[in-house]
Amino acid sequence: MPKTRKLRGGKPTGNVHSRANRDRGRGQSSAPLSRPNRGRGKTSSDSRVAAGRLEKSTSKNDRAIDVAIRSRHLEAAFIALSNTNPVFLGPYSSRQRILLLGEADLSFTAALLAGLGVSSNIVATCFESEATLNEKYSAFAARRDALLSAGVEIKYEVDATCLHEPQGGIGPDRETSRFDVCVFNFPHVGGGSLKEDRVANIQMLSGFFASSRQTACLAKPRARVHVVLRSTAFYDSWDVCSIAKQAGLRFLNKEPFEVDAFEQLGYCAVRTSGDGTQMRQAPSTEKAFRYVFQIEPA
Ligand SMILES: C[S@@+](CC[C@H](N)C(=O)[O-])C[C@H]1O[C@@H](n2cnc3c(N)ncnc32)[C@H](O)[C@@H]1O
Repeated sequence: MPKTRKLRGGKPTGNVHSRANRDRGRGQSSAPLSRPNRGRGKTSSDSRVAAGRLEKSTSKNDRAIDVAIRSRHLEAAFIALSNTNPVFLGPYSSRQRILLLGEADLSFTAALLAGLGVSSNIVATCFESEATLNEKYSAFAARRDALLSAGVEIKYEVDATCLHEPQGGIGPDRETSRFDVCVFNFPHVGGGSLKEDRVANIQMLSGFFASSRQTACLAKPRARVHVVLRSTAFYDSWDVCSIAKQAGLRFLNKEPFEVDAFEQLGYCAVRTSGDGTQMRQAPSTEKAFRYVFQIEPA
């Protein structure tokens, strides 16, 4: 049985736990979190109750919740299943339409799904082809299959600098649909920390911001762009806020990335490239911050 673990989310919207507990405090009836064995850990009867609820429920989120249960994120699944209010995880809500870029082995996508319990609102994209990801990341194929069966849309060979273009973008079908937020966690073109690497990464981010401004899918007046980067001398030297400003985006906020909350739901940051096809050990996520931008009208 999985251990009962406490989820920790961040400002400003809190996380699934804190929000649900707050709602209970207010006497809202839609978050029935009072599980009979609270504090005693999960039992097989919990799983039976969850399975029973799954059978009864007919909502579109069933498959997402099923995946969360099968992937042992029981706690998140319970909350997602029982809550008719929006569910929050970090700054994300189950009501938002979320576009994910540079998702690599899809572990952030899976964590988001487990936390929010909604699959139809998430579109995950990867820079590489499906075959390359299969070679690079051992966990990729199983995660892809689980996400697809949960109803998450996954697109490959999506270049963040070409979102607005028919080739390499998210596709003409998607150009017409709107996202509330576009998320690029730990963008990196690969390579090391040399001067030329810095230049290549700045160029990529510059292209991404410019493209996010041109694509119709982020044309909402309130659409946000999230970029998560570590605060180290190398990443700080990119000066992400200046890159965004030059491309016409307005910096709104810099906030700590709730890495614990996402890791507890299965997220594990990965590297862009390894030694041949072999990935080196997971990169550090220490001192990671989310930069929040707003797209200024053209
Ligand atoms: C350090 S990895 C981070 C992967 C993942 N976002 C995570 O949090 O673990 C950087 C990712 O950025 C992707 N990337 C590099 N250039 C890109 C581009 N032009 N458009 C989209 N993604 C890109 C890489 O393929 C890689 O998957």
